[in-house]
Amino acid sequence: MEVIIQPTREAAAHLVARIIARELRANPHLVLGLATGKTMECVYRELVRLRQEQGLDFSLCSTFNLDEYVGLFPSDPNSYRHYMEHQLFRQVNIDPRNTHLPNGMAEDLDAECRRYEATIQRFGGIDLQLLGIGKAGHIGFNEPLSALRSRTRVKALTPTTLEQNAPFFGGEDKMPRRAITMGVGTIIEARRCLLLATGDSKAAVLAQAVEGPITSMVSASALQLHARCTVVVDEAAAGRLAGKDYYRWIFANEPEWEEYR
Ligand code: F6R
Repeated sequence: MEVIIQPTREAAAHLVARIIARELRANPHLVLGLATGKTMECVYRELVRLRQEQGLDFSLCSTFNLDEYVGLFPSDPNSYRHYMEHQLFRQVNIDPRNTHLPNGMAEDLDAECRRYEATIQRFGGIDLQLLGIGKAGHIGFNEPLSALRSRTRVKALTPTTLEQNAPFFGGEDKMPRRAITMGVGTIIEARRCLLLATGDSKAAVLAQAVEGPITSMVSASALQLHARCTVVVDEAAAGRLAGKDYYRWIFANEPEWEEYR
């Protein structure tokens, strides 16, 4: 795992967008795993800017989102399909047929989960998976106790997640109670993982994920098993990391990061 600390939320998000852009330029057929949520909005804004100002080309890439709520139509303003359409897909030159999210309205949800896994396989697996982290340590909607080898499936949302996302719905009572999510096992099969965490509300759980034991109680800690995982944080989210000085030293000295410094 590598941890890169940036001074601000914007700087952290922009660095993540630059890493994605670099991978996309190197491989126009990139299979990109995407996340939703507040943290990612700044990343998508920057990718849209790179499209508009530098012609970053999305025409050949494919995307797979981590998750989708059960019971919301794609047109619902709170669905993750709606989020992605507005934050990114409609603002760049991606082929809509190459954008994939689980269908939370499927009649047979288990079959839908199997279909989603099979589609990822058919596209050759995910090259780069973008991740946020929830206050309960989830990646995707892999809530505490998610098996480290879990695959795409339906998960009940925990009280912490309901509380975290309720404001978008105008109250917990209006929120779906379940979501389809890629499993922890699905996520860590991506060839590269890129986690972005910003704000002091993520500091404690981020320290657990990066420096604590690998445990299904904090599903993001499974990323410690990944051969190529980059964690980008702002100062606020880095607040509880014990090894900050060491991470800064690596970033300042590792040749791979030269163009990002
Ligand atoms: C959403 C997802 C979640 C979020 C996490 C952080 O697709 O995968 O794991 O990344 O809940 O959400 P924000 O950024 O809203 O704090």
